[in-house]
Amino acid sequence: MSAQNINIKLKIWRQQSDKDKGNFEHYSLNEVSTASSFLEMLDQLNEQLINEGKEPIAFDHDCREGICGMCSLYINGRPHGPDTGITTCQLHMRSFKDGDTIVIEPWRSTAFPVIKDLIVDRTAFDRIQHAGGFVSVNTSGNTIDANAIPIPKDDADDSFAAAACIGCGACVATCKNGSAMLFVGAKVSQFALLPQGKTEAKRRVLNMVKQMDEEGFGNCTNTGACEVECPKGISLENIARMNREYLCAGASEK
Ligand code: SF4
Ligand code: FES
Repeated sequence: MSAQNINIKLKIWRQQSDKDKGNFEHYSLNEVSTASSFLEMLDQLNEQLINEGKEPIAFDHDCREGICGMCSLYINGRPHGPDTGITTCQLHMRSFKDGDTIVIEPWRSTAFPVIKDLIVDRTAFDRIQHAGGFVSVNTSGNTIDANAIPIPKDDADDSFAAAACIGCGACVATCKNGSAMLFVGAKVSQFALLPQGKTEAKRRVLNMVKQMDEEGFGNCTNTGACEVECPKGISLENIARMNREYLCAGASEK
C-alpha cells in the first residue's frame, strides 16, 4: 500500500504529576503520513504544539524498535494499540484512517503512578528484578563455559521464550486486577528452566513474589488478557510455572 497523508483527531491524557487530577485534551493533526510510526506522529504533534507556544506532550520511548519496553501507551482502549504482537513504537499510522479519532492514555495501575502526561513510573518492575531476577556467576577464574552444560532443547526454547519479556507493563495495564504475574512469571521461568538458575531458585521466587505484592500489584484470576496483549507472546504457562516454583519453595522452607 503506497503512503498517503491523513488528517486525524487526537484525544490525549494530560497530567502535570501524580498529584494532579489530569484530563483529556483534544488536538487536530493534519498531513500525517501513513508511512510514519505512531511515535513519529506524536513527534509531529509536539512540533506543532511547540510552534504554537504550547507545552509538548510527555511520552516515554527509547529504542523505537520493540526492545526496551519504554513506549507504554494505551491506544483506543488497548495497550500498544490495535495490532497484536507489537509495541507502540512498532505501530504505524497505516493502521488508522483519514478522519479517525485516536484516544491515547497512559498505563493505568496503582503500581504505575503517572509521572507526567503519558509517562508512568515503572520502577516497581526494577525493584522486583532486584529482589531475585539474576543468577550468581563464579568469576574466580574457574567459570564454566555455559555451552559445556547440557540443557534439554525444550527447556532452552521455553527459557528463551520467557526471556523475550521486555518489561513493558502492558500485561499489568490490561489486567482488570493490575496483576504483574505474567511479567514475574516470565522472569522467574527464564532462570527456573536452566541449570544456572537452580542455585537461587527458591530465594528468587519467594523474594520476587513478595516484592510484587509489596508494590501493590493485584492477583491473577486467569482472565488471560495479559497473554493476548503481550507484545512478545509471553505464555500464561509462565504463571503456572511460577506458582509451582512458589509452592515448592514455600513448602521446603517450612
Ligand atoms: S510479559 Fe509481555 S506485556 Fe508483560 S512486561 Fe513482559 S513483554 Fe510486556
Ligand atoms: S521504544 Fe523501545 S520498545 Fe518501544
